[in-house]
Amino acid sequence: MTPYLVVDNATRRYGNGVETVDALRGVSLHVRPGQFVALVGRSGCGKTTLLNLCGAMDFPSTGTVRIGDVTTTGLSDAALTRLRRTQIGFIFQFFQLLPTLSAVENVELPALLAGETNPRGRALKLLRFVEMETMAHRMPHQLSGGQMQRIAIARALVNNPRILLADEPIGNLDTATGELVLDLLRRTARERQTIILMATHSMESTNYCDLVVRMRDGRIEETIER
Ligand SMILES: Nc1ncnc2c1ncn2[C@@H]1O[C@H](COP(=O)(O)OP(=O)(O)O)[C@@H](O)[C@H]1O
Ligand SMILES: [Mg+2]
Repeated sequence: MTPYLVVDNATRRYGNGVETVDALRGVSLHVRPGQFVALVGRSGCGKTTLLNLCGAMDFPSTGTVRIGDVTTTGLSDAALTRLRRTQIGFIFQFFQLLPTLSAVENVELPALLAGETNPRGRALKLLRFVEMETMAHRMPHQLSGGQMQRIAIARALVNNPRILLADEPIGNLDTATGELVLDLLRRTARERQTIILMATHSMESTNYCDLVVRMRDGRIEETIER
């Protein structure tokens, strides 16, 4: 299968003038539909920067990021918004659910923002997929961390993105709950053919992945196929 996400010799320099940081120093990566990829390496090695580039939330200083047949640099604001809404989902360490919306309303929100008028049916279907349908009407503060992350995964999938970016998604969960979330991510990659890029500190979590990318000082040191 041809790669859907292609990072080609990407660099990212923050700042200008005297204080610059080279967060990425020439990173290349090819990812095929359905691949679950772990980005590992110590804090500051460039994992979050690379995720942001792959989500078209940020852009390489040199080099390119291609999503499908679109290169992220040089797009109009409208094209960028469309690309992010239709192709990309994000999940985070602290879940970032909106506290005033119920679980199902959180899941619906990205679909409503994309202009859909009644996404309830699809939101409920996704809640079934993440095994949270019985909690659809709970508020976030009535959910455990693992339950909130499952809701966040459903929310990230509601517009059916080709790429799911996960920044330390189990960093705030205990081991057993983290394993449930990792299992759900693996199932998402398999069943929906979603590309998943996951930044993680936990070496155990790489057992769930197809590809492990070890980063150091803004470079890829080693790529291991599982
Ligand atoms: N907005 C920013 N401005 C300046 N430096 C940044 C910014 N974001 C990240 N950095 C720096 O870039 C490097 C890589 O950071 P990051 O991608 O967040 O690493 P990781 O996610 O692996 O911990 C670090 O040295 C960090 O301090
Ligand atoms: Mg990070």
